[in-house]
Amino acid sequence: MKSLLFLGRQPNLGIAELESVYGADHLTFIWDRFVASDLPIESFNLNRLGSVVKIAEIIDEIPLSQMKEIDFPLAEVTSKHLKDNAVSSKFNLAISSYGIGMNTSELTRLTLTMKKNLKKEGFSIRIIPNKHEAISTAQVIHNNLTDNTKGLEIVLVRKKDSILIAKTYQEQDIEAYTARDQARPFRDAFVGMLPPKLAQTIINLAVGQTDLKTIEILDPFCGTGVLLQEALLMGCPTVIGADLEERMVDFSRGNIDWLENKFDGSEQSIIIEQGDATSTNWQKFNCVAAETYLGKPLSTIPRKDFLREIIEPVNLLHKKFLKNLAVQIASGTRICLAVPAWRTENNQFVHLSVLDQLADLGYNRIALEKVSSKDLLYFRPDQIVARELVILTRK
Ligand SMILES: C[S@@+](CC[C@H](N)C(=O)[O-])C[C@H]1O[C@@H](n2cnc3c(N)ncnc32)[C@H](O)[C@@H]1O
Repeated sequence: MKSLLFLGRQPNLGIAELESVYGADHLTFIWDRFVASDLPIESFNLNRLGSVVKIAEIIDEIPLSQMKEIDFPLAEVTSKHLKDNAVSSKFNLAISSYGIGMNTSELTRLTLTMKKNLKKEGFSIRIIPNKHEAISTAQVIHNNLTDNTKGLEIVLVRKKDSILIAKTYQEQDIEAYTARDQARPFRDAFVGMLPPKLAQTIINLAVGQTDLKTIEILDPFCGTGVLLQEALLMGCPTVIGADLEERMVDFSRGNIDWLENKFDGSEQSIIIEQGDATSTNWQKFNCVAAETYLGKPLSTIPRKDFLREIIEPVNLLHKKFLKNLAVQIASGTRICLAVPAWRTENNQFVHLSVLDQLADLGYNRIALEKVSSKDLLYFRPDQIVARELVILTRK
């Protein structure tokens, strides 16, 4: 195994995203939020993966029984890193551990032993103290721990009877996501705020292993244009957006204009037009990704009969949309839709019934190997309306 991937708040989405883009054969689920891969670290581009928050390069794996002597392999890894990168000035060092049962004082003791030994080799080390078993993303960034010549975070992750030793390679750029999410000139709380990270995951599930440079992506429910924006930043040459409401079309156009002033997208083709997803004939596209209409926003769990009333028109809209789409796409065209699912009192989710008629409508639902379709739900703990990610291909 060469790479270690840390999944975000909803690990199932991260697993699905990785499997879609890199293939199940390259992934080994370790536990909780950790996945290992036989692909080299450079294969992973964190800027395009919405549900993966950190990647590290696996350097060594030692049996759990050798835990007491772990300072030897760690000293070796660090010493080699310092020499390979010709480090001559003061260097920041941190250790984060996951599931190996080392408390913060044991970790601190370990780092101090390493500091002492590395000093003998002529290196000047500054230790980043452990307030917890793992240091925070902010500490990694502020102490330059992903800059090979300035610092290093060693990550220790329990894997059954062994410990993986890895070097942090990249952290998700939270500030960049926040900047493009909150600085967009047109936002609409009612239509909902699709987080840019989730937009990326939806796009990745739709694109799969196809080269992004060949993707002409359609979002028929574009709203304020978050998905279009992320598709452009990921490098799709053509993005097509449509929305029933003219106001939303203006919002999307305004947001994309703003984006184009900040990032150069001059080579990319952008079409945004008003259109009803149940009847529009869209311009040429070869991939579909959308957060569809989620229905009435809810802040409390509705009564059963009221919920039925809410769901019925939303379900019908989806059915008509899927019928309209089916006649416009070639067999094999891949689609990812974030559709609504509603939380009930026993913490289960009610799904759109149209999802049981997909075969009749001309679609195959893609079943992933490493995660079940029913677990592809995105929601915050207080949310009633979740987004269910549905991956389809045209039959
Ligand atoms: C959940 S929002 C999508 C928000 C979007 N992802 C964004 O980035 O802002 C759903 C959108 O679907 C649009 N919509 C509702 N019914 C539609 C229809 N029949 N055809 C096209 N768009 C529709 C709404 O106007 C709304 O903007």
